[in-house]
Amino acid sequence: MPAIVFRSHADSAEQWGANLKTQFPDIDFRVWPDAGNKADIDTAIVWKPERGMLRQFPNLKMIVSLGAGVDHIFADPELPPGVPVVRLVDPWMANSISEYVALNVLRFHRDDPDYVRQQAERKWNALPLRETTQRTVGFLGMGFMAGDAAAKIKPFGFRIAGWSRTPKQIDGIDCHHGQDGLERFLGRSEFLVCLLPATPATVGIISAKTLAMLPRGAYLINCGRGAHTVEADVLAALDSGQLAGAALDVFRTEPLPADSPLWNHPKVFVTPHIAAQTNARTGAAVVAENIRRVRRGEPPRDAVDPAVGY
Ligand code: GLV
Repeated sequence: MPAIVFRSHADSAEQWGANLKTQFPDIDFRVWPDAGNKADIDTAIVWKPERGMLRQFPNLKMIVSLGAGVDHIFADPELPPGVPVVRLVDPWMANSISEYVALNVLRFHRDDPDYVRQQAERKWNALPLRETTQRTVGFLGMGFMAGDAAAKIKPFGFRIAGWSRTPKQIDGIDCHHGQDGLERFLGRSEFLVCLLPATPATVGIISAKTLAMLPRGAYLINCGRGAHTVEADVLAALDSGQLAGAALDVFRTEPLPADSPLWNHPKVFVTPHIAAQTNARTGAAVVAENIRRVRRGEPPRDAVDPAVGY
């Protein structure tokens, strides 16, 4: 019976081991670096594997990301060629992202940062309430998570726009694609939600140039990757008023360094990469299904295209 090697935090190893055991009672679950005979391993389940780790398993059939993103795996220049890399596509994680997006779109839409300040000053002052039907939430990246978040905030009445690398047609979403579509998409996105994968083509996409294409006073909600932003440009846009606020869950350097000006910027909400978290209970069922497929000799679901990195 082939074995699984797991590499992440120690407490999550315990949880994943226990949850996968409910799917495979006789599972051979090994926690890196105690991989035993490396030739036994057919599946690696990893978060931020160290360089060269994955090429050590001669019979590896699948690499599973312990997250929606796979950039932490492709960061290894010594990945074994031809072994499928699989994203964790867990509806519970998508729901968590949707909560984070709804929380931040709504708190900006309802001028919550102003009311928090006014309360501190004991100031009773009603600001005009804007109509959701006149405001557009734009999703940079139109994958599984963006689709879930878009569907969940649409009933409030917001207009929804989306941008992706390749053309998409999704009911109720004003879809744009490619370099040509980016300016048109940004021009209407009063709330810009980044849910892109981090690839060489998307690193630094939120820069002075693209921020200037947003309507003045737009809001940025980044739950993609820190590398999508040029942080100095985001700060400059906040200070100039081009951005009215930002909710940032991901950063170029994590943990966000103590001296980052983002920590105490009055227009910024900082959270420590928690918009979604991997969940061993819900995730194990998804991963187990892929392990079964691969052990039956079928290709896994949700494998990424290494040429584009997602
Ligand atoms: C977290 O950032 C993930 O990729 O799931």
